[in-house]
Amino acid sequence: MSDSLQVELNFPAGFLWGTATAAHQVEGGNINQWSAWEQKGGGRIFGNQVSGAACDWWNGRAEGDFDRAASLHNNALRLSVEWSRIQPEPDRWDEAALDRYRQMAAALRDRGLEPVVTLYHFTYPLWLEERGGWLCPDAPRLFARFAARVVEALGEYVRLWCTINEPMVYAVQSYLFGLWPPGRQDLGEALQVAAALVRAHAAAYHAIKPDHPEAQLGFAKHQIAFTPRWPVVDGLGAWALNALFNEAIFGAFTRGRLRWLPGMTTSVPEARGTLDWIGLQYYNRYHVRLNPCVAGAMLYEQYVPAGLPKGPDGWGELAPEQVYPLIRQLHRLVGVPIYVTEVGVPDADDSIRPGYLARSLRWVWRACMHNYPVRGFFFWSLVDNFEWAEGYDPRFRFGLYGVDFATQERTERRSARLYRAVCAAHALTADILREHAPEAISAVFEKPPRQMP
Ligand code: BGC
Repeated sequence: MSDSLQVELNFPAGFLWGTATAAHQVEGGNINQWSAWEQKGGGRIFGNQVSGAACDWWNGRAEGDFDRAASLHNNALRLSVEWSRIQPEPDRWDEAALDRYRQMAAALRDRGLEPVVTLYHFTYPLWLEERGGWLCPDAPRLFARFAARVVEALGEYVRLWCTINEPMVYAVQSYLFGLWPPGRQDLGEALQVAAALVRAHAAAYHAIKPDHPEAQLGFAKHQIAFTPRWPVVDGLGAWALNALFNEAIFGAFTRGRLRWLPGMTTSVPEARGTLDWIGLQYYNRYHVRLNPCVAGAMLYEQYVPAGLPKGPDGWGELAPEQVYPLIRQLHRLVGVPIYVTEVGVPDADDSIRPGYLARSLRWVWRACMHNYPVRGFFFWSLVDNFEWAEGYDPRFRFGLYGVDFATQERTERRSARLYRAVCAAHALTADILREHAPEAISAVFEKPPRQMP
């Protein structure tokens, strides 16, 4: 690629540039079902670690990180509120906690950052756990009550609300693989929880909209790219995984029915028409092949063929261009405005992240140019943080800024400088790449791969 290349990939006016975070991963000091799980030890979390002080946002370090986000020329930031802080008991709201969140939302506005607030990002109060968590038939109604209270308190600052983060990831990790609390391994329960989260979204929508028609309510959906090894032999497996994990719940928003597989549905009529926007979260691709020996119920296994770039163990292939077909997929499924609410890569030494970010943006740009309604991009994450079952495993560092968890010191990474330049220019340009991610120039400006739809 020639040094004089002058290409500029400009993003649409009004596009939101931000990073994404979640309360339990950055605040520190939370007491919820996840912190209880951390206390159990037994190898549930990497090195039996606990989230502890995390990035110490609650005690005042949030604002310093908001300064960092503003220094990146971001105009938005996605964060979540912690249910257990706001409603420590079923019949008690903690006004001081709501005030702290108001303070944080105001601090974001002061810095020119639009707050995008997630209401449920994997954690809930212990009193809900005692009632059975998301399997409690009353959970959607309880969530809607909490959500309406938060919108009442923060609505002055917040327009974009994300009700639920990654319903399918939560259902699968917590109720099928047993890796997250409550550690269950039961497919029936996993499907039940996924449906409960859809109900919770719908209940929140109906509780909030009448009084706050200006509130824009969506949720964040993790999509995995599944590619069959051989279209004929392995196609059925890839199709089924895509149908179950990526597509099933969307039927609720268009037809009032989750459609797990043909003939296997769950009726949620109240969800129809309750999406103002949808969030895409994309991290990796898995290849799918028939393998009766490692048989899960479906006889197919997910793997990464030798030679392809992949993350740490179990993470899958790093294939940033797949964000494009997944944007198309969401558009086909629900047809509402799309925010890319998370894209990121675990990479402690920041050698992969700059190129990964640049290549992701190249494909998000392409989706914008093809007139898919993509309205913003939020990189996961602003700062390194507590990575759930991976704890503070050094291999799972996601931040544009590194965090030394012993001292709370932040270190700006090369990927932060790249993102700053892109957001300032509102464009991904050859000059920016030459300066901050020269290794990605040819991948960003090359012709699309052949198999790209
Ligand atoms: C979750 C985040 C998590 C990230 C990286 C997403 O699925 O929303 O909470 O830290 O992935 O694993």
